[in-house]
Amino acid sequence: MNINIAVVPVAGLGTRLLPATKSQPKEMLPVGRKPVVQYVVEELTRAGMERLLFITGPSKTSIENHFDMHGELIQTLRENGKEELLAELEFERAPVQYFYTRQRQLLGLGHAVLCAREFVGAEPFVVALGDSIIGLNAQSGIVRAMTRVFSEQRADAVVAFEAVPRSEVMHYGIAAPKSDGAIFEIADVIEKPNEDEAPSNLAIAARYVFAPRIFDALARTAPGKGGEIQLTDAIRRVIQEGGRVFGITLRGERRYDIGNFDAYFRAFVEFALADAKHGAALREYLREIIK
Ligand code: UTP
Repeated sequence: MNINIAVVPVAGLGTRLLPATKSQPKEMLPVGRKPVVQYVVEELTRAGMERLLFITGPSKTSIENHFDMHGELIQTLRENGKEELLAELEFERAPVQYFYTRQRQLLGLGHAVLCAREFVGAEPFVVALGDSIIGLNAQSGIVRAMTRVFSEQRADAVVAFEAVPRSEVMHYGIAAPKSDGAIFEIADVIEKPNEDEAPSNLAIAARYVFAPRIFDALARTAPGKGGEIQLTDAIRRVIQEGGRVFGITLRGERRYDIGNFDAYFRAFVEFALADAKHGAALREYLREIIK
């Protein structure tokens, strides 16, 4: 089964990153050299995605601009012999088609995914949150592994998970796995449980593969935690209605969720330290100022 559509929700207000996100999307904040969402697109392109649908909103036009060809900029760099800088714009040529639709009311992540229904139609598809990078420099093969599991298991959904400290389970959708191992069927998922009601410490990690039946489930899902239509609640409904949902854990790679300043600062420093040109000098500098 060839899965080549990815839906990238980027409509949220990013209030936890104010004032940085007052007039710019959090998905456009740089981590090292690139904006967050560019890493997401590069990961999806490597995983074989050919059509990317962004679920966007009024203050997010810089995302569309970022993935356009900037003819004038290319021309200027070429005329000035700045070949090295031209190479930084290579991503504009990625072999993908971009589509955009607006989430006209911010009713939650589940609602954002539901906005993709007409576009996706009857095909399976990937969902990748636009504010989360998987693996250092997005060098992750998780989406490809997920689409493989989806096909092999004839699943209705495959969800990526990351083990988190139990004290943090209340921030995530948490799995009740049916078995141990890196790939497992899921008996249930619970959105933001208390520590004592969490069935495990496996937290949903920003990547999903869905059969189109998720749209039916989403359309029948009432607002849940935080008054939002929760994607986790729709997955739960799919399971309760006999659907087969599988989990796969990240393999030695971290999920960088750029949702709050603590996570953002850490991600920026880690990516900057790994930078081939500037990383070593930064390491020295940090050593000096931390002393
Ligand atoms: P978050 O809940 O982390 O994003 O959603 P947020 O609402 O922007 O953050 P805060 O709480 O105000 O700081 C994760 C992803 O889902 C998208 C966001 O853009 C982000 O990429 N999202 C969330 C939507 O597209 N629509 C929504 O209604 C909610």
